[in-house]
Amino acid sequence: MANPTILIINGPNLNMLGKRQPEVYGHETLADIEAACIRHASLAGLEVEFRQSNHEGDLVDWIQGARERVAGIIINAGAYTHTSIAILDALLSAEVTCVEVHLSNIHQRDEFRHHSFVSKAAKGMICGFGSHGYILAIDALARLIRGS
Ligand code: DQA
Repeated sequence: MANPTILIINGPNLNMLGKRQPEVYGHETLADIEAACIRHASLAGLEVEFRQSNHEGDLVDWIQGARERVAGIIINAGAYTHTSIAILDALLSAEVTCVEVHLSNIHQRDEFRHHSFVSKAAKGMICGFGSHGYILAIDALARLIRGS
């Protein structure tokens, strides 16, 4: 049987990683993070679909398309985390286990970053560990998938 697939979704401005505020987000590029995720997930017997868009509707479309197709979702919705009821609604209707990730510790930052709409639909949230958060999220999701 084919390995289960997980979908890793990245929202706006995450394509700028490496160049964007490296003191907050680190020096790695999104391509570096993608390669590390694919490597790590393969050890857990998972395939990875890794995506990024600056457009809210793309994220909604990808979440809708995940229903009954992927074993889990990891999402860093970027700034849409704090604004998007559309992404929350998509996650709630997808009925796919979801882990939320942020590179930075959003609770140490501006007040407007403290609230996450995504968290309402996520099993749990990992933030503040930089790119390693994606690896931690894969481990958490792999365990949830195995347990289900
Ligand atoms: C982020 C945190 C958000 O507040 C911000 O808008 C981002 C990145 C993070 O990964 O730390 O774009 O999601």
